[in-house]
Amino acid sequence: MTLWLEPKKLKQEQQKLQNRRFITFEGGEGAGKTTLIEEISHYLTSRGFEVLKTREPGGTPLGDKIRQLVLENRNEKISPLAELALFLASRAQHVEKVIEPALKQNKIVLCDRFNDSSIAYQGIARNLGKKEVEKACQFFSQNLEPTLTFYLDIDPKIGMSRISKSRTIDRIEQEDFSFHIQVRNAFLKIASENPQRIFVIDASLPKTQVQQMAIKKLCSIIS
Ligand SMILES: Nc1ncnc2c1ncn2[C@@H]1O[C@H](COP(=O)(O)OP(=O)(O)O)[C@@H](O)[C@H]1O
Ligand SMILES: [Mg+2]
Repeated sequence: MTLWLEPKKLKQEQQKLQNRRFITFEGGEGAGKTTLIEEISHYLTSRGFEVLKTREPGGTPLGDKIRQLVLENRNEKISPLAELALFLASRAQHVEKVIEPALKQNKIVLCDRFNDSSIAYQGIARNLGKKEVEKACQFFSQNLEPTLTFYLDIDPKIGMSRISKSRTIDRIEQEDFSFHIQVRNAFLKIASENPQRIFVIDASLPKTQVQQMAIKKLCSIIS
């Protein structure tokens, strides 16, 4: 038996031992990520857990500026590589300044989007390469892996109709319908490759059912 573990595996093992709880929420636009995070945060807080709710891009003052740059509607077309670089800059700052410190304080971190979004949107749907973007994500997030990821799966037609009722549409949401279908297929592929980490929920179900399923799964890892 060898004691040597590749750096990513070693980090995962250390994270398990430290009982860190980093939960990410992934899915297309209007899948219900923000709604579910609010509910779960409520549930955990009322049971005495310390929770940090955060999101990507964003989560830090720098990240919020990047969020604005990436999501605002603009005349200049952003190249896929530049887009990826902006998301990763936001992530690097977020992991180092906010997520890691919160995990060290034993908080449960609930994060709206993380590496899987970069892999689905930029790696697969924008064609930068799945493997390449996976590697970049590992590097910029310092190999931080979510303990559990909820992937809220929704037909983009339903997702887009939900958000168009509730708010204005950002630059990425405005992409063609075919782009959103590619993103969904990309997430499904990532989920099928990571069955241990990613819990898929049918997000077309009523909110209460989505919440119940998520809370049941969550309880199995926090108790
Ligand atoms: N399971 C659900 N069924 C119907 N509507 C939902 C459901 N989950 C969320 N919504 C509604 O859809 C809209 C988008 O939800 P939101 O949580 O902002 O999605 P996301 O953060 O994934 O873009 C909101 O108006 C929200 O109330
Ligand atoms: Mg949201």
